[in-house]
Amino acid sequence: MKPSKKDRKIMIIHGPNLNMLGKREPEIYGKETLGEINAKLEELAEKLDIDVETFQSNYEGKIIEKIQSASGGSGICKGLIINPAAFTHTSIAIRDALLLLDIPIIEIHLSNIYKRESFRRKSMIADVVTAQISGFGVQGYIIALNAIAKM
Ligand code: DQA
Repeated sequence: MKPSKKDRKIMIIHGPNLNMLGKREPEIYGKETLGEINAKLEELAEKLDIDVETFQSNYEGKIIEKIQSASGGSGICKGLIINPAAFTHTSIAIRDALLLLDIPIIEIHLSNIYKRESFRRKSMIADVVTAQISGFGVQGYIIALNAIAKM
């Protein structure tokens, strides 16, 4: 029997202020809204015959609970794509939560974090994820989903 799409679920987590995409520093983050980005990812998932769940929060604890939910129970996921936004540079707690997971994890940033202020050049999670994509704008999410679907 062909496994159901639900058995090939990828979680996509967007961190703080990414709900303001479109309005927020468009010269850095682009003009597309988070809704438009999620719609593109859902469309691609359909083509790839996988299931995606998208989630955004401005709260560190909610992001941690979502990461924890990816590792067990009925919501078990086969991969995680995460843009922790500003928490990338500060959150040991998100790093620790990611260490719970035994699935491919792709860290993604719309902007090239290495080309910006020095405080953005440090990622607390870069050394615990499978791969990092930084600087491709929205295209980075498309690259990440295509890649993780094959993993
Ligand atoms: C970001 C880069 C972070 O430094 C910043 O705080 C963000 C977005 C990006 O996608 O380029 O909110 O993660």
